[in-house]
Amino acid sequence: MALDVIVSGLLVVDILAKVPSKIIKGTKHEISKILVQGGAPAGNAACVIAKSGLKTGFVGYKADNTLSIIANQELHKCGVNTSLMIEKENFQPAIAVVEVDANNGDRTVFYSLDNYSPLAIKDINEDWVKNSKLLLVDGYDVTGNLELLKIAKKHETPSVLDIETGDIAILKQMIQLGDHIILPLEGAQLITGLKDTHDCLFALGKLTKGQLIITDGANGSWAIENNNIIHQPAFPAKVVDTTGCGDAFHGAYAIALLEGKNLVNRMQFASAYASIIATHFGGRSYFPNKQEVENVIIKNTK
Ligand SMILES: Nc1ncnc2c1ncn2[C@@H]1O[C@H](COP(=O)(O)OP(=O)(O)OP(=O)(O)O)[C@@H](O)[C@H]1O
Ligand SMILES: [Mg+2]
Repeated sequence: MALDVIVSGLLVVDILAKVPSKIIKGTKHEISKILVQGGAPAGNAACVIAKSGLKTGFVGYKADNTLSIIANQELHKCGVNTSLMIEKENFQPAIAVVEVDANNGDRTVFYSLDNYSPLAIKDINEDWVKNSKLLLVDGYDVTGNLELLKIAKKHETPSVLDIETGDIAILKQMIQLGDHIILPLEGAQLITGLKDTHDCLFALGKLTKGQLIITDGANGSWAIENNNIIHQPAFPAKVVDTTGCGDAFHGAYAIALLEGKNLVNRMQFASAYASIIATHFGGRSYFPNKQEVENVIIKNTK
């Protein structure tokens, strides 16, 4: 089956816990919520895209163990096609413990890559990307994702990148190859060694002809277009948990790109979508439809 969008990146199971502000170390605490959910930039973005009705495939590995079964089922539940995932003995998805601050929704992530295998070049099928309308990759599974980006370039399949952290030299290669590079400010600062958002954008602009966007949580997002900086403020939200806001921003941006929206409208759509994600506990607990996203834009834009 031809897929509209191919997504590749770290496969993760999240354990999210709403942590009260006062804890006593070494004791037990009953808390209001602990949630087990699929997570991570690529997986969450894949769910957002699939939920919009686009045929979305996630590529990577699977195995017969608990974490792998959960990770696959969590993708499946959102309508993500997992038929391209390859059986690999002893493979295990990464696991993350996400502490969500009960007061302001800020999240702190602890993750482990024990037994995780990133997608290897030998397992990549050129047709995945050749036959799709868009490729979305993260900056974690760098070797395989770099190869996928090269294939996307060759076949002129547009790509969206989510670069958070990693080996700077490889991330720079990915940025060079990518068409739409969206990264959180910390990622941009890591790669450029600069602090200021505008400085980061101009420095990254020297690496790529692709569209650059930096996100910075409640401060919104910035893009560079024809040497001008565009700022999209974050939409106001009753924040419960910001887990997955960045991932949803990428997924929603990809949806808007495939709809032919211009840069300003893509950023607006992605920000509005992400603001709705912030109002729910967990990055995959609720997926707004297009009308709900448009309503947020209409309500807050005059
Ligand atoms: N508190 C918030 N209120 C409204 N919108 C938000 C909030 N936090 C994030 N967003 C929206 O989501 C976008 C991406 O968020 P952010 O920069 O935190 O991504 P991130 O650090 O990659 O997060 P993650 O990878 O955990 O999803 C922001 O540019 C903004 O549009
Ligand atoms: Mg992110």
